[in-house]
Amino acid sequence: MKNKNAIRAVQSGHTLLLLVVVMFSMILAGCIDQETTGDAIAGKNKSTICAQCHGANGISIVPIYPNLAGQKEQYMILALKAYRSGERVNMAMTPHARKLTDEDIADLSAYYASLPPGG
Ligand code: HEC
Repeated sequence: MKNKNAIRAVQSGHTLLLLVVVMFSMILAGCIDQETTGDAIAGKNKSTICAQCHGANGISIVPIYPNLAGQKEQYMILALKAYRSGERVNMAMTPHARKLTDEDIADLSAYYASLPPGG
């Protein structure tokens, strides 16, 4: 009797563990997905304002404005979020970053990452 209960307890423990592992993987996959589901075509459509400073193909013609073509996608997401939160501050860049949603940031980053770095 005691043994049966013990076996049952172990079995339900395994099921619970499996459930926790599955749920944890799903959460992890969700996080990773969120960072990489940017739509480059939507990003191109949202980049008109950015192009005024960063150039039509992500290559800037102003020496103090950085190129964005071929920029690493994850880096760009972090940079834009840093401007938006105020962690990174720049007079030219901050007002534009403040208007961006998470989706805008993902789309714009996917777009610029897809451009050839040489223009
Ligand atoms: C008025 C000009 C201007 C506009 C418009 C502008 N930027 Fe910027 N951007 C800058 C300047 C200047 C910097 C460099 C700021 C610094 O030194 O931190 C910069 C920096 C950046 C960086 C960081 C680059 C790096 O190498 O760290 C990213 C990413 C960026 N801009 C994306 C965008 C996007 C996306 C848009 C459109 C929503 C945009 N910018 C609109 C002027 C502009």
